[in-house]
Amino acid sequence: MVYPDPSSRSAQLYARASQVMAGGSTRLTTWQAPYPIYAASGSGCRIRDVDGVERIDFLNNYMTLIHGHAHPEIVAAVQEQAARGLSFAMPTENEVMLAELLCGRVKSFEQIRFCNSGSEAVMVAVKAARAHNGRPMIAKCEGAYHGMFDPVEVSHDANPGNWGDVDAPARTPYTRGLPENVMRDVVVIPHNDVARSRHLLELNADRLAAVIIDPLPPRIGFVPATAEFLRMVREVCDRHDIVMISDEVASFRIDYNGPQHVHGFDADLTTMGKIIGGGMPVGAVAGKKAFMDVFNPTRGRPLASHGGTFNSNPMTMAAGYAAMRMMTPEAFARLATLGDRLAEGLRAAFRDANMEGQVTGAGSLWKIHMNNRRYTDYRSVHALPAERKRLDGLYRHLLNAGFVMGPTGLIALSTAMGEKEVDDFCGAVHEGLMGIRRASGEAA
Ligand SMILES: Cc1ncc(COP(=O)(O)O)c(C=O)c1O
Repeated sequence: MVYPDPSSRSAQLYARASQVMAGGSTRLTTWQAPYPIYAASGSGCRIRDVDGVERIDFLNNYMTLIHGHAHPEIVAAVQEQAARGLSFAMPTENEVMLAELLCGRVKSFEQIRFCNSGSEAVMVAVKAARAHNGRPMIAKCEGAYHGMFDPVEVSHDANPGNWGDVDAPARTPYTRGLPENVMRDVVVIPHNDVARSRHLLELNADRLAAVIIDPLPPRIGFVPATAEFLRMVREVCDRHDIVMISDEVASFRIDYNGPQHVHGFDADLTTMGKIIGGGMPVGAVAGKKAFMDVFNPTRGRPLASHGGTFNSNPMTMAAGYAAMRMMTPEAFARLATLGDRLAEGLRAAFRDANMEGQVTGAGSLWKIHMNNRRYTDYRSVHALPAERKRLDGLYRHLLNAGFVMGPTGLIALSTAMGEKEVDDFCGAVHEGLMGIRRASGEAA
């Protein structure tokens, strides 16, 4: 079956969904025109849709499923826990086990708390920072995505029409109606621009609760934060008692000891999500005791509130522990080798097709771009309309060739894959690029 097909079961389900959900969907990133493809089941690196079409999954629920679908050990852990009870108004040993595992891997993780999404984790971390130093503002990089919390949504979707002067990037709202005072309390800094960012941070230092960065930001095209940029942020935070938050909801995937080990820095607080829940909803904030102590209830009312009916629910904790325990240093190394093979294969595909394009990323996280610009920050990565169109063409070609990647060129590998799947994917990308070239009349 070729996508799109108005007679497909997915199209029918979407017609039903459109009656009861705005735009027929509850998740922006799973919606697509003319209709989203509905999943029926997944096993290993394969996902099967409701029309029986099987594809190899290079998206893995937006970077979450590091072992692919329905890994037997994760399924068993979830089934065993389900039989013992789904959730309680009591903590469980599962929570202690996952907390110990994660705190044992990253130097700056002295303590941890769990919640149910990456967005929540970022909100909890920002609240902790405000409670720590009593200040209202945060600074964030232009274009960085940190989830749905009001202040971090600012400028995550800035575009050439509204992003303003790079010396002081404009604060742009995503959601209409974002209160002016929320916008005012956000300082937007250019990723990797040490001089401009330092200036903006110093200018607002006495009102800044936190600076939130991402060492490998997905929406800034996986352009890694440079050592100089990270050093500058760490130094300004130390000098002014500002909390340095590292958002690793996505990038925690790149190394056994996390991106802070790879990039050589220690954050005060770190947010996580995705892989640490083994496929179940999850978020976490970890950090140094001095910063996590705002949540400590043992001396009376804590400085920062952090409730949540489903925080560290035993199902998520069981799945997360099973998944992370299997992510040994060897498993991370194997994924990184597979990632390098993928990047090389994709670069060769662009070369052979004689098309402009590049691949960025690290470990098991990669992104395809349809240009050869030199990337430093969000503005240089931001795709032009013609590039978006070519990428969309590639995405749709891949869907019909039996592969799922993100519509923005996002790729996340899983341990369920091998060299064959990676090579087949690169072959399909090559074919797709040739098709795009032919269609645009660029063929030599
Ligand atoms: C870096 C980063 N932070 C935060 C989030 C939000 O996480 P969630 O979708 O679990 O709320 C995401 C989601 O993709 C992310 O990539």
